[in-house]
Amino acid sequence: MNLAELVDPPHAQGDVKLIRARDELRAALASVRGEGRSIGLVPTMGYLHEGHLSLLRAARAECEVVVMTLFVNPTQFGPGEDLDRYPRDEERDLRLAREAGADLVYAPPAEEVYPEGFSTKVEVAGELTGVLDGDPARRGPGHFGGVTTVVAKLFNSVQPDVAFFGQKDAQQVAVIRRMVRDLDFPVRIAVLPTVREADGLAMSSRNAYLDPRARQQATSLSRALRAAEETAPTAGLAAALDAARAELRVAGVEPEYLEARDAEELSEVAELGDRPVLIAVAAQIGGARLIDNVVI
Ligand code: PAF
Repeated sequence: MNLAELVDPPHAQGDVKLIRARDELRAALASVRGEGRSIGLVPTMGYLHEGHLSLLRAARAECEVVVMTLFVNPTQFGPGEDLDRYPRDEERDLRLAREAGADLVYAPPAEEVYPEGFSTKVEVAGELTGVLDGDPARRGPGHFGGVTTVVAKLFNSVQPDVAFFGQKDAQQVAVIRRMVRDLDFPVRIAVLPTVREADGLAMSSRNAYLDPRARQQATSLSRALRAAEETAPTAGLAAALDAARAELRVAGVEPEYLEARDAEELSEVAELGDRPVLIAVAAQIGGARLIDNVVI
């Protein structure tokens, strides 16, 4: 395949190339790399929304070739989670990816990523994967083991110069950054701000699960975080978390967690200091488990 066809002429007139086999992906990208062109990677599980599109646009602006991966990764779903009903619409994703600037979409079948006998795991140990969503009583560290294993594989297959992730998945970002640092992946991690609906709800593919009542309740997550953000500088973190809890209570939402942690290490913090603090919330609202966060 001549990848030059994908990137010249200008992208808006081009088409997106769909690749399912890793060998074909590698062959296509080898010529790109040989020409010294930079590669941006946007890993996704599909059902694209504005959050994904903002990552693709950022990749388009910064990199000469933009690869999006589209793979609903089974190993990051726990038993009883929503793997089977996770929303999927490949045709729509391809169209949106093309419009947002992707040159190439790698959408492998599960057997290509996890062939029979697959028995390797890439795991970041310790607090980064053991708290918040990684708490064994919640999704557990296995969730992040699934994420880092597949992201490590995608980094190896694509060998991007820059990989783009959304701040909404703040813990995922912290874990991936650590993996990249610890395992010397030659990739820069770019993190883009959370994209929100007009009423503040963070965009998520799982918002598709919300019925109208739950959709309304879900707006309390961003209100709670805003209340915390406004309260913290003058009244401190404990009062900030109280203010957030009060917003959730009014909406009838019981958080799975609402915590303040060091934004990089995810260690507990009692007060604002000179390092950024992550306030993270998760809640089951109607049929969707939603997460959101703010960094102050
Ligand atoms: O954030 C996601 O959509 C997924 O966790 C990722 C990074 C694509 C890995 O499957």
